[in-house]
Amino acid sequence: MDRPRVWITRRLPEAGVRRLLQETEAEVWQDRLPPAREAILEQVRGCDGLLTLLTDPIDAEVMDAAGPQLKVISNYAVGFDNIDVPAATARGIVVTNTPEVLTETTADLAFALLLAAARRLPEGRQSVLEGDWLTWEPQYLLGQDVHGATLGIVGLGRIGQAVARRARGFSMRVLYSDPARRPEEKELGACWVEFDALLAQSDFISIHCPLTPETRGLFSAQALQRMKPTAMLVNTARGPVVETAALEQALRTGAIAGAALDVTDPEPLPAGHPLLALPNCLVVPHIASASVATRRRMAEMAAGNLLAVLRGERPENPVNPEVYGGDEN
Ligand code: DGY
Repeated sequence: MDRPRVWITRRLPEAGVRRLLQETEAEVWQDRLPPAREAILEQVRGCDGLLTLLTDPIDAEVMDAAGPQLKVISNYAVGFDNIDVPAATARGIVVTNTPEVLTETTADLAFALLLAAARRLPEGRQSVLEGDWLTWEPQYLLGQDVHGATLGIVGLGRIGQAVARRARGFSMRVLYSDPARRPEEKELGACWVEFDALLAQSDFISIHCPLTPETRGLFSAQALQRMKPTAMLVNTARGPVVETAALEQALRTGAIAGAALDVTDPEPLPAGHPLLALPNCLVVPHIASASVATRRRMAEMAAGNLLAVLRGERPENPVNPEVYGGDEN
């Protein structure tokens, strides 16, 4: 019997995908850059399964270009805003993601960004490199205390909760906003507040909501204006949750004190982008889940999900379980 055809849109940690390469007729996109639209439409043709990245927009046109045999789109990420899930569901295609395995690693980076921004680590490094470290100075590079400060978490899902646990170790007061109150709030010592109250009361805000039509542009000029002028914004979720031009303006005018971003809009920011020139804005290249162990576990999970569907089994992490007949995820 013919082995199923699979397209993997980038090179992934070898150990994670070994079984997938052995059990299928798999092709791997070898470039460092994502395939362009034309290449996607060409490569998916005749595939039974796709293993995609958050940089690959997978919509109805791509699914139709693949053909009716396409059974599964396995995303190598917990976020799946790059995939038109309703279009997949309408075609009976299972979409899967990689939750949980990256929770703690992502929370580590969110906290690293928070600490780095609060204590001005990038500016300190720059100052040392430029020979500006002349002596110990009483008023040099003064930052903000993290311990005892108020942290506002936008979205108390898995990653938001992991950040809240870290915050408790720093004796922070933790607020959160979410469409509904979370049962975990008690154990986490987190207090639910309206979004506006979170903006007004937080010394640090960390974003952990998915990108949806409701959260796109959530941090608008108006929202940023409601933050404390001493507050700092951390984003490890998705770039478009924050309006880039509004953030730049808020940082430039002192409406907020700083930002630390793992994700941006656009992504990557082009060289010379004004945000990159601001000393109070730290930008890192979407590396929140980038530890050796986590990326390997993500690869194993994405490969496992894909193989399960191709074998006719139910995968561990479907995001549209309704393709199996209406039950919940
Ligand atoms: C995700 O999984 O959605 C992250 O953005 C990358 O790991």
